[in-house]
Amino acid sequence: MRKDVILSTVGLRAGYGGKPVLQGLDIEVREGEIVAVIGRNGVGKSTLMKSLIGLVPTTGGAIVYRGEPVEQLPAHKRARLGIGYVPQGRDVFPRLTVAENLAVGAAIRGGMTATDRRRLTEAFPILEERWSQRAGTMSGGQQQQLAIGRVLVADPALILLDEPSEGIQPNIVQDIARNMVALNQRTGVTVVLVEQNLDMIRAMAQRCYVMDKGRIVAALEREALDDAAEMRRHLAV
Ligand SMILES: Nc1ncnc2c1ncn2[C@@H]1O[C@H](COP(=O)(O)OP(=O)(O)OP(=O)(O)O)[C@@H](O)[C@H]1O
Ligand SMILES: [Mg+2]
Repeated sequence: MRKDVILSTVGLRAGYGGKPVLQGLDIEVREGEIVAVIGRNGVGKSTLMKSLIGLVPTTGGAIVYRGEPVEQLPAHKRARLGIGYVPQGRDVFPRLTVAENLAVGAAIRGGMTATDRRRLTEAFPILEERWSQRAGTMSGGQQQQLAIGRVLVADPALILLDEPSEGIQPNIVQDIARNMVALNQRTGVTVVLVEQNLDMIRAMAQRCYVMDKGRIVAALEREALDDAAEMRRHLAV
């Protein structure tokens, strides 16, 4: 049986001031999928993620989450409905400890329970090890896991991940991908992943959308992800 659609956009338009970026974008994601969105620099991938969570206003079209239009809701309401957003460049609070950063994420659900902490440290054991360490003193890869963890404590149904591999060593990229796939298999959480790193895409994604100039220009199934020449054509040069 095919799973229900958890997220779709229909003719989505968004931009900055007078500058249109998303120009009628359509995607459809089913529950439990890990779907990548790829494309060259500046095509609007981050703008898509920001418009899905509500940090960039929608100027046209619709965003449907679990059957309801959400494009008019502010970001915190979408977060409360179960959408988690991990921004490009991670953005953890460098002077706060791991535990304090996580407490910020948990606040949208009214605090962190023992179950939340277990779910989190099961997915990313490094966070338990570094519980009282200041985030700014950790490696890029550890900070990325913290940024994901901060979203995970709120128990999202859908995670929006914007270029998690950026500036991270290849072996840690593989660790993060493995942890995310295990989490997806264990909990059924849906993931929409923006990436340009072929290794991360292959390790995580089940299929992928190709974006260019604010639109989806191709939808690739799993087999195509293994075609290195084809993939490189769609990625940053
Ligand atoms: N805050 C902003 N104000 C105005 N224009 C912006 C803003 N953020 C991004 N843009 C522009 O919108 C377009 C799309 O940017 P976006 O960050 O979505 O691209 P991207 O695909 O995520 O790129 P990258 O691969 O470099 O992360 C670019 O032309 C960019 O310069
Ligand atoms: Mg981006």
